[in-house]
Amino acid sequence: MTNYKGPMRVLSGIQTSGNMHLGNYLGAIRKFAAMQNEYDCFYFLADMHSITVWQEPEQLRRQIFHIAAAYIASGVDPNTATIFPQSSVHAHAELAWIFNCVARLGWLDRMTQFKDKAGKDKERASVGLYTYPVLQAADILVYKATHVPVGEDQKQHLELSRDIAGKFNHDFKVDDFFPLPEPLIKGPGARIMSLRDGTAKMSKSDPSENACIFLKDDADTIARKIKKSKTDPEPLPSERKGLEGRAEAANLVGIYAALSGKSEDEVLAEYGGQGFGVFKPALADLVVEKITPIGGELNRLEADPAYLTSVLEAGAEKASVIADGVVREVKEIMGFVV
Ligand code: TYM
Repeated sequence: MTNYKGPMRVLSGIQTSGNMHLGNYLGAIRKFAAMQNEYDCFYFLADMHSITVWQEPEQLRRQIFHIAAAYIASGVDPNTATIFPQSSVHAHAELAWIFNCVARLGWLDRMTQFKDKAGKDKERASVGLYTYPVLQAADILVYKATHVPVGEDQKQHLELSRDIAGKFNHDFKVDDFFPLPEPLIKGPGARIMSLRDGTAKMSKSDPSENACIFLKDDADTIARKIKKSKTDPEPLPSERKGLEGRAEAANLVGIYAALSGKSEDEVLAEYGGQGFGVFKPALADLVVEKITPIGGELNRLEADPAYLTSVLEAGAEKASVIADGVVREVKEIMGFVV
């Protein structure tokens, strides 16, 4: 469905709602930083996605700075990668409308995130929440991005982006126009679970305050959350097979592996046979060592909105040049006249 031969380009974004947590860091932001020196990278703040549910204006402003600060504090260099708010590059919204006319209702009806987020009362959900994945496809394809680093929960949205790209290329007989973007999901940290329930994703909206480690948590808070995390009474196994059916234990081992750079087998070779009385303090030390410096830098950057504004303005300008060019090409292909 595509003969795209353009350059490899990386793009991803995070919604500007809620504080950044360990799942966002391991599933996404850390990968952003790791790819920036090798590829042309675009990392945006998905503020238009966040308004699909109600956002207090003051809070939205703070959140935009929070995510920008989280990217930079985690090692994304604004002189290397392009960081910008989605809402400042108009082409995202323009291409999203065009894609609303390419995507099929049946495709969107299958999106599980809408069902989860809209809950039982879907009549009262915003229309934006329903077409949310179409905007996501536009975010990616407006840069002809080829690779998208995300956590596992975004897999279905990425499949929809590929379907939209393929249908556009096919309908307009331009089979080399859009790439079919590849999700980059694999690797440790693609799905970090709640510390209170190993079957639920770690999420900023978890009602239990101990379920989620935020990048801004201080050392004591991190240690307390890990100490209180749900586990079982068995010692850790010496091999990965032994984690089957032990979701909470598997999650803690997965976090240790992702942060230490060791494989889960290596972690289990070290801690197999030990109880959580030994493993939890070791994990807490590791999380504190890796996360609190990011939290400190995040706080420092958030206190400097003038700097962050200058980064976002420069990023938006750079991104707009590419995105405007792609929308111009799309409109010409479709028969718009100017
Ligand atoms: P969002 O804001 O929900 O999440 C941001 C990123 O963090 C990852 N993530 C996790 N990874 C591992 N474990 C977890 N518990 C966890 N929780 C969140 C997500 O997979 C994601 O990579 N729709 C997107 C934002 C978006 C986007 C895009 C992404 C809008 N347009 C275009 C890529 C490309 C979202 O809501 O992510």
